[in-house]
Amino acid sequence: MKNYRALIWVLAIVGWVALLAAPATADEMDGKQLFLKKRCQSCHTVAVAEISVDEEEAKEPEGDDELQPPDLSAAGLHFERDVLIRFLQKKERRDGRLHKKRFVGKKADLEVLVDWLMTMQEETAEPQSD
Ligand code: HEC
Repeated sequence: MKNYRALIWVLAIVGWVALLAAPATADEMDGKQLFLKKRCQSCHTVAVAEISVDEEEAKEPEGDDELQPPDLSAAGLHFERDVLIRFLQKKERRDGRLHKKRFVGKKADLEVLVDWLMTMQEETAEPQSD
């Protein structure tokens, strides 16, 4: 009987620790976590959020005319929220071009991600040209 009670305690503690350590589900992720999970940083830096390009994944542009993915520190200044959502779904062109990569995942996650991107309003974080 004593052992049984001890077992209950152990299970309770293990369960509690597991709950605390459980990784956030997609529903609980914030925009920055989604950005990283969707590997956006394989192309984009976000200087204001201290996200740098993932060196292991970064690909060399294929040709000279290949577009360099911009730093997204000012993304919120360049788009309306709904336009950005469609842009990332490749339903909206900008300067006649579609985005390189279509967002794959739940619409709710895309909205969380875009809401976070809309807070990126730091025009001077990285000069676009000189
Ligand atoms: C394969 C490389 C690649 C990946 C992966 C990628 N992008 Fe891009 N992205 C680009 C390129 C290239 C442009 C520039 C497109 C243009 O100007 O037409 C761009 C442009 C953008 C812009 C417009 C920036 C601005 O202010 O002008 C946003 C916002 C953006 N991407 C968000 C994202 C998000 C969010 C993800 C992850 C879900 C992502 N991108 C993944 C290559 C990529």
